[in-house]
Amino acid sequence: MIAIREVRGDELLKISAMWGEFMAFNGTFNDSFKIKKRARAIFSKEMSERGDNPDCRLAVADDAGQLIGFCYSYISLKPKYFKLEKFGFVGDLFVKEEYRGRGTGRLLVADALKFFKKRKINQIELLVAQQNIDTIKFWESLGFDHLLTWMFKRI
Ligand SMILES: CC(C)(COP(=O)(O)OP(=O)(O)OC[C@H]1O[C@@H](n2cnc3c(N)ncnc32)[C@H](O)[C@@H]1OP(=O)(O)O)[C@@H](O)C(=O)NCCC(=O)NCCS
Repeated sequence: MIAIREVRGDELLKISAMWGEFMAFNGTFNDSFKIKKRARAIFSKEMSERGDNPDCRLAVADDAGQLIGFCYSYISLKPKYFKLEKFGFVGDLFVKEEYRGRGTGRLLVADALKFFKKRKINQIELLVAQQNIDTIKFWESLGFDHLLTWMFKRI
């Protein structure tokens, strides 16, 4: 039985290992996503500094004591000229490969939406690599629409 719950302080190392897998996966799409050697340590430090910030939620999927996925979400602000002031952002979502396709990603997203709803946030956004077709299908199946195309050029 999979439980979704807030991360504990002593679990940040395990989360950073999963985050490293997530970033390595992203790196296969474009080298803009390649990370530094120290990246995992930087990520853990940032997560521990986040402490009890009520605008952030770091949730884990706990399968009988084993962490198999996580979701990091937070409340963010739009530039002041937009009518929409606050929105929810899903920064990182990852389920270990061998545990995918069993509804864990869906549960992690449901937990993030519950967190945002409690805070009266009614728009949720995220970024996904354009070549990450499976994940785009995942988000579409959860009712997410396309909003922007993020473009780049090297000069
Ligand atoms: C995206 C990810 C978190 C999904 O986790 P998951 O536990 O496999 O997802 P679920 O089993 O909850 O799937 C929920 C629904 O999404 C859809 N879905 C999931 N994977 C899919 C795929 N590869 N192709 C098409 N649809 C898919 C299905 O409709 C599924 O519903 P169903 O179970 O009723 O068929 C996981 O694949 C992952 O970690 N990917 C690598 C990291 C990543 O891309 N993260 C997101 C960055 S934005």
